[in-house]
Formats: sequence, C-alpha cells, structure tokens
Amino acid sequence: MKTILITGCSSGFGLEIAKHFLAQGWKVVATMRTPREDLLPASEHLRVLPLDVADPASIRRAVEAAGQVDVLVNNAGIGLMGAFEGTAMDTVREVFETNTFGTLALTQALLPQFRVRGSGTIVNVSSSTTLVPLPLLSVYTASKAAVNAFTESLALELAEFGVRVSLVLPGRSPETPFSKNAGPRMQGAIPDAYAGFAERVFASRAEGGPVTHAADVVEAVWRAATDAAAPLRMPAGADAVAQAASGR
Ligand SMILES: NC(=O)c1ccc[n+]([C@@H]2O[C@H](COP(=O)([O-])OP(=O)(O)OC[C@H]3O[C@@H](n4cnc5c(N)ncnc54)[C@H](OP(=O)(O)O)[C@@H]3O)[C@@H](O)[C@H]2O)c1
Repeated sequence: MKTILITGCSSGFGLEIAKHFLAQGWKVVATMRTPREDLLPASEHLRVLPLDVADPASIRRAVEAAGQVDVLVNNAGIGLMGAFEGTAMDTVREVFETNTFGTLALTQALLPQFRVRGSGTIVNVSSSTTLVPLPLLSVYTASKAAVNAFTESLALELAEFGVRVSLVLPGRSPETPFSKNAGPRMQGAIPDAYAGFAERVFASRAEGGPVTHAADVVEAVWRAATDAAAPLRMPAGADAVAQAASGR
C-alpha cells in the first residue's frame, strides 16, 4: 500500500486530494498548519500531521513523523492580488516563503528517502497564471513560475534516480476559499492611482467563462501519482487546458 503526503489539507484542493486517495485505499498523511481530525473520514489509513511549510523545524518534525512516503504533493499555497507598487516587500516575501521556498524545502527534506529507494513522485501544484499572464498577480505568478522552473530542472536530475516530478497547473477555482484566504494580505494593495484599472480587471474576471473544479485538480494529481507516462506539465481545469493550448 502506497503512502501520499499532501500539504495544505485544511481546505480546497488539498482536502479533496486527501479524500480521493483515502477512498482509493492509499495511506494518506494529510498535513495542515492547524491539524483537524474531523475534516476527513476516520480511517486507519489516515494520519493528520501538523506542518507549516514556511517553518524549517515544522518540516523536520513532519518528515520524521511521516516515515516512508511514496508521493509528495506540494499543494499548500497562498494568494495575493494587487498592484505591485502597493505590495509591501514583507508580503512579497511571505508569498515566496510559502509558495516557493516551502515547496523547495519540503522537497529537499523528502528527497534522500526517494533517492535511496530509487522511487518516488513529487507533484507540485502551481497555477495557470504562469501560462497566460494576468494583471495584478505579478508576485503570485512569480512565486509559481519559480516553482515551474525548479520542477522542470529537478525532473531531469531526479530521473537519474528513478524519481518522477510533475507540475499540476490549476486554473481559477472560485469553489475553494483561496481568494477569501488571500483577503487580509491584500489590504492597501490597490493604491488610488490603480483603482480604475483594478475595477476594470475585477469586472472582466467576474464575467464568467470556464473555471477549474477541485475534481480536475484531484484527477491531475491522481494521474501524476499513478501513471509513469504522465506528462511533466498538467493543466487542470477547462480554463487551464484552454490557456495551455493557446501556446504560452
Ligand atoms: N483556487 C484557485 O483559484 C487556484 C488556482 C491555481 C492554483 N491554486 C493553487 O492551489 C493550491 C491550493 O489552493 P486552494 O485553492 O485549495 O486554496 P485554499 O483552500 O486556501 O488552500 C490552501 C491551503 O494551503 C495551506 N497553507 C497556507 N500557508 C501554509 C503554510 N505556510 N504551511 C502549510 N500550509 C499552508 C492552507 O492552510 P491554512 O488553513 O492553515 O491557511 C490551506 O490548507 C495553492 O498552491 C494555490 O496557489 C489555486
């Protein structure tokens, strides 16, 4: 029986990925900053562990407690929408600390066991904003574009050891609390000079069109975890698939 460790399981994609792998009979290490046992169905195959990916000591403890892991899903992430000029550098660092350095740090902590066993899969959840740039998302997109570049290079060096690395690129998913969770980080992020522009951007985003469902992300992560022939880059969701096809 294989074991998957997923970050950011308190809500959204991470929670749904954990539910799916549990239902498919996998052992699941569902990690959360604030562990809650009641979010997932009780199961002898489930362990809920505390993990803050921005805290090196927390990473050390979680990796030690997890034991053997076959698949790592770096899903934890935070959003930020705003004009770059109005974004404090502390906020920029906070976004990179979780989205980028958190992904790198946890990957590095689990790599030795993958290399020694000559197997293992790492799935990094990025974003379709890296496929087609959107305004007011410069910092978030940069944090995820760095994950893409990291993943693509890492895949080449880990193939040597039988370790697979994948990128899942979800589109916009209003069904998760991602935007709401980003709210407090966005205070003051639209300076007055950008107000009219931001209004037009928000209005065009509210117009509708295809979106991504958690099930699309679950499906892509499942494929990355179980299909050795899965492509390295997997757009997830109708909007992401269309953006990838547009050639960017
Ligand atoms: N929803 C979208 O539109 C969308 C689109 C493209 C990509 N994505 C990406 O998909 C991933 C999941 O997002 P989601 O939509 O499911 O949003 P979400 O419901 O807000 O989930 C984000 C998860 O990350 C966790 N997290 C945040 N900071 C963390 C840290 N330092 N250490 C550990 N966990 C941390 C959150 O936990 P807490 O409860 O502790 O805050 C939460 O469980 C993210 O990487 C996001 O960038 C989302």
